[in-house]
Amino acid sequence: MFHLDLAPADPILGLTETFKADTHPGKINLGVGVYQDATGKTPVLRAVKAAERHLLDHESTKSYLSIPGLPALAAQTQALLFGEGHALTTTGRAKTAQTPGGTGALRVAADFCQRALPTATVWVSQPTWANHQAIFEAAGFAVKSYRYYDKAAQSLDEAGFMADLAAIPEGDIVILHGCCHNPSGIDLTPNAWAAVAQVAQQKRLLCLVDFAYQGFGDGLEEDRAGLHVLLNAGLSVLIASSYSKNFGLYNERIGALTVVEDTADAAERAFSHMQAAIRAIYSSPPSHGGAIVATILGDATLRAEWVSELADMRQRIRAMREAFVQGMADRQSKVDFGFINHQKGMFSFSGLTETQVLKLRADDHIYIVGSGRINVAGITPANLDPLCDAIARVL
Ligand code: LMR
Repeated sequence: MFHLDLAPADPILGLTETFKADTHPGKINLGVGVYQDATGKTPVLRAVKAAERHLLDHESTKSYLSIPGLPALAAQTQALLFGEGHALTTTGRAKTAQTPGGTGALRVAADFCQRALPTATVWVSQPTWANHQAIFEAAGFAVKSYRYYDKAAQSLDEAGFMADLAAIPEGDIVILHGCCHNPSGIDLTPNAWAAVAQVAQQKRLLCLVDFAYQGFGDGLEEDRAGLHVLLNAGLSVLIASSYSKNFGLYNERIGALTVVEDTADAAERAFSHMQAAIRAIYSSPPSHGGAIVATILGDATLRAEWVSELADMRQRIRAMREAFVQGMADRQSKVDFGFINHQKGMFSFSGLTETQVLKLRADDHIYIVGSGRINVAGITPANLDPLCDAIARVL
């Protein structure tokens, strides 16, 4: 019946499968964006375990959630995005739906935009997360890219970014990374965020902020600074949150989609379409991940524990950035990797070519995405030396 060619393996998740199948004891996974601790494990956070124990004792039903999910999750999501008791929340200008992961939030956003802005083009950074284009194309949009990464300078191509932003046609949709740009680790400067706010206002662009790494850059509040430039300018925005990384809830698939509108009435109308879109995809969200996040954020002790665990993850990644840069310098590497210390979050663009990436995989069992993106959170004190040795060899 189906005369299909094989679909290409996913560049990120497909690599995880190849890694799992590798039986070499010294294999190193710097592919998929999953946090690993100093022993190479992806632990369940202590706050999460405590919340799960609480839920096991107190959960009284497995009946369906409503289409937008748990009200407590929505309220806590807005507090993380805007701050406690923010006017956008109290005036009803922001509405939040719980979604299956950040990917689910983006897909709901895409289907919602198909209802609200069907003729728009979607603009993504060059490069961007491998799945952005697929999600928005699957919803029927044309996806184009704006300049972002300056390969030679290993930094933001601010001039290119500004020029391309200014040329985006009126009414289009711009996807921005709230912090910890995936894959480059290079974030927009305050200057660039201000330009986004100005151009979006002039041209009535819809900004969709993909906020998958809140807390992995400089801190929960610091990381929302760019988003707040847009909010302070009074823009309507969509925000896709993920709790995969900052709560370590990868396989619970928990995220949220927030719409911010000019008025409470406009927000209500937008939210009704968002709910219609959700009903047609998965009806209502799974409960467990949302219940965990809402339990933790609603309890002062658990919340403090989580904030401290998140800080530990952030600091470990930063320490590994520094250790890697030093390790390469110690090996008199042909390349100065100092730029990695300026990048934020889980990822870095290493500058390794696809040929070098494939050679590292074949010779050293080191798994890196073809673009040269490294998951810094996969570096540990134990694998640092073999990793630096192998990269020095391949350069
Ligand atoms: C990544 O970029 O590695 C993560 O966001 C996981 C994924 O789904 O691709």
